[in-house]
Amino acid sequence: MDILSIESSCDETAAAVIRDGREIISSVVATQIEEHRLYGGVVPEIASRRHCESICAVVSEALEKAGTTADKVDAVAVTFAPGLIGALLVGVNYAKSLAFGLGKPLIPVHHIRGHIAANYLAHPELEPPYMCLVASGGHSHIVEVKDYTEFSVLGRTIDDAAGECFDKAARAMGFPYPGGVFIDNAAKQGDPKKYHLPKPHTENPYDFSFSGLKTAVINLIHNAKQKGEKIDVNSLAACFQKTVSEILTDKFIAAACEKGYKKIALAGGVAANSGLRGNLSEAAEKNGMRLFVPPLSLCGDNAAMIGAQAFYEFQKGHTADESLNAYATMSLDKVRY
Ligand code: KG4
Ligand code: ZN
Repeated sequence: MDILSIESSCDETAAAVIRDGREIISSVVATQIEEHRLYGGVVPEIASRRHCESICAVVSEALEKAGTTADKVDAVAVTFAPGLIGALLVGVNYAKSLAFGLGKPLIPVHHIRGHIAANYLAHPELEPPYMCLVASGGHSHIVEVKDYTEFSVLGRTIDDAAGECFDKAARAMGFPYPGGVFIDNAAKQGDPKKYHLPKPHTENPYDFSFSGLKTAVINLIHNAKQKGEKIDVNSLAACFQKTVSEILTDKFIAAACEKGYKKIALAGGVAANSGLRGNLSEAAEKNGMRLFVPPLSLCGDNAAMIGAQAFYEFQKGHTADESLNAYATMSLDKVRY
């Protein structure tokens, strides 16, 4: 089954053709990052307008690269939640019109379920049940993947998401938006023991809280400036990355141990972080767990992951009609259409 999938929930306009949920026939991502970088973050209205301008060309390119045409695909899938509402609406309306015009099924896909499914494209042997750590710009979750379309969220962030914390700390360190990858690169040259940063306590041991850590970085830089001291940015980046990686890893591994999972996976934009990947693979080995991570090309937003999840949603009959709407917020274990 070939699915044409579309993603427009934030600042990437993306389309892909995915076979049987596991094989990438084509995948095209048009990023708007350079433009949003001028403003230090994503400007929602600009994002919607750029999706509007690019979506036809991106879908055409994905079909062309796959050597197919829209009338030959078996279904159309689209991210319908969560995300920037104006951005989501562009993809949803485009996909609806296309599916309706072609007389093909329309499959709505939850964005975070898509991030998790990125792993299916890289690891043919990965099947539920397993435990997944999702860390992206907008979300940080510890999730039990009970089946392809059945999830249970054990913990989530109570304030900032991990990626958001990376981006805000990076901004304070003087890096461009989005700063996660700049911290990752700087950390390689720094001393991870030079600065002490806090690990916040949460009532539910599997929830996360990153806003205190972000504030600690901002205060540390501010206080040094006031005293006329120079900050060693590479070392601050290394300490920050180590602290975030340890918080995510420790809670995730503890949850996997408690629930008895030996199969674990990582997903979301922050899954690209070398410190987190290293930390988690060490912890997995120590605990006799098998860790699955997506390749770097599938960590950030893309449509291939949406097509992968769409295949399994379709098996369960999760299709929509022309009344499909987009939603800015929706929990991945309580999806409604
Ligand atoms: O999943 P994603 O592409 O978008 C959302 O769904 O939110 O995640 C984007 C986030 C940004 O916060 C970005 O800074 C972060 O992923 N990110 C990284 C790295 N690459 C991207 N964070 C840390 N280290 C990286 N190498
Ligand atoms: Zn995402």
